Amino acid sequence: MSTWPQQLGVLIKRAAEDILGSQKTIALTGAGISVESGIPDFRSAQGLWSRYDPEEYAHISAFRSNPAKVWRMLKEMMELVMSAEPNPAHFALAELEQMGLLSSVITQNVDGLHQRAGSKEVIEFHGSNQWLICLECGYRQEATSLSLEEVPPRCPNCGFILKPDVVFFGEPIPWEAQSKAYEGARTCKLVLVIGTSAVVYPAAEIPIVAKRNGAKVVEINMEPTTLTGSVSDYLLQGAAGKILPKIVEEVKERIS
Ligand code: APR
Repeated sequence: MSTWPQQLGVLIKRAAEDILGSQKTIALTGAGISVESGIPDFRSAQGLWSRYDPEEYAHISAFRSNPAKVWRMLKEMMELVMSAEPNPAHFALAELEQMGLLSSVITQNVDGLHQRAGSKEVIEFHGSNQWLICLECGYRQEATSLSLEEVPPRCPNCGFILKPDVVFFGEPIPWEAQSKAYEGARTCKLVLVIGTSAVVYPAAEIPIVAKRNGAKVVEINMEPTTLTGSVSDYLLQGAAGKILPKIVEEVKERIS
């Protein structure tokens, strides 16, 4: 810990105490938690939106008007996710859950890395790339069988180009995910907000609802966000893959 900036070292201890003192803790994660797994985020300097205009590639109207074009971006994301492994940040959250110190992870990510790291209670707020669906006839199939050569995949029923079962801009949040996430936000005493710029709603409202219900809000991010200094109680500034394992280490020291 001596190599840490003094402030970060103090905040890591504070976060461990807050986790141990919380009757119910949830986490909200964004693309930043998967950056150390090799998946770029969206809005950092090298993020995906620096190469693809989200209006042209991530809005449901863009998919409906030119699905083959959107699949050019989706294929790049698929390749990155296929070669990605959970990183120490994902494993740290799974360990907190196993210790009975984290009740759920609400994730905006669709990469499935929380589940692969061992997290059981994962609420996929923006859907998941585990399934492909047909907007024309409702057909569904697992995406795991999809190979890159089959992109863009076509519906075997009607020939329409299939869509990953993820939430595009302009689409609703899956009802069950939304209701479980808001239930968590209303009842938790602590929310860890990890690797999200907190600019996309309604996901970004989760920490605000939690705060309004009396919860502490702790951010882990490479940089301050719109929540910092207003909604968040404090920010641990740095890489989640480095900070979260340190917090778990501190927790273990306190309970051993
Ligand atoms: N550790 C911690 N934070 C990190 C790391 C890291 N290693 N790397 C990047 N970050 C931070 C960035 O500083 C940024 O604040 O993670 C955040 C990522 O923000 P975004 O790229 O905006 O991703 P996210 O908040 O998940 O986007 C929300 O927008 O485009 C849509 O549907 C997409 O789910 C996504 C939603």
